Amino acid sequence: MIIGSPDDVTAAVLAEAARAPEARTREILAAGIAHLHAFVRDARLTENEFRHLCGAIARLGQATTASHNEVMLAAGSLGVSSLVCLLNNRGGADGGGTTANLMGPFWRAGAPRTADGGSIVRSPTPGDPVFVTAWVRDAAGRAVADAEVDVWHASPEGYYENQDPRQADMNLRGRFVTDADGRIRFRTVKPAGYPVPVDGPVGALLRAQGRHNLRPAHLHFMIHKPGWKTQFSQVYSGDDPNLETDAQFGVTRALIAHYVAHDTAREAAPDADVRGRWYSLERRFVVEPGDAALPAPPITGKADTPPARVVLRRPA
Ligand SMILES: [Fe+2]
Repeated sequence: MIIGSPDDVTAAVLAEAARAPEARTREILAAGIAHLHAFVRDARLTENEFRHLCGAIARLGQATTASHNEVMLAAGSLGVSSLVCLLNNRGGADGGGTTANLMGPFWRAGAPRTADGGSIVRSPTPGDPVFVTAWVRDAAGRAVADAEVDVWHASPEGYYENQDPRQADMNLRGRFVTDADGRIRFRTVKPAGYPVPVDGPVGALLRAQGRHNLRPAHLHFMIHKPGWKTQFSQVYSGDDPNLETDAQFGVTRALIAHYVAHDTAREAAPDADVRGRWYSLERRFVVEPGDAALPAPPITGKADTPPARVVLRRPA
């Protein structure tokens, strides 16, 4: 087509997309092109703004390394990750009741297999001990046994081990297998919220909106068993001040958890070495039959130096 007007451009690109022989590719391209062109029109994008946007997208890729995924961070920061999750999981589109949640940019494959009740604290890590019990159930409440459950979280100082060479490899990461009751148990330390890195294009995005870069404290889970849809989940601490303003828009009511405080002065902890305050946490995850495929991990390695800890303010 010889282009004579802005509408001709859109029509010409859509016509080429219609040539794709694979139906799903055709559908995705048609919707993507229509919305992308509508965005350019609606925003009245100038030539300078277009060049700026192309530069920012290029920098997302350039800032992505073996130990950091800026593209995933950007998708989360724009709510795209949360939207994809809620639209693709039972109870999500209407009620938000799914226990599925964001994969996030910090899952690593190959975490150590850990015995039932074992600790995922693999190098000295500050923080109060937490004893977690989690159950994996189907929609009817039946136990799902022999499911592999990956667990990972940031240190109370706000770093995942892959970001922080001071932590042992795979610290605060572990893999468990559900028992006949669909249960796993493990020991860790109570997580704290953490700032997402803002030295790349995501930082510019947050600053432009006057947003903070904090995630409320959470534990990550990934449940995997052949015949069941792989479920990524996060469990958020109910006492965190940033539940309403999560920089990644991940917090749903179904995943806010209450840590129960205990003290060894009144109640012994499950492990005899604990002195003073400790916490317990119980959670139930509901999985559905489906594809047990595992995605490629967003990161594969460990950084040489921790990222600068920068916390952005969010003026009222
Ligand atoms: Fe996280």
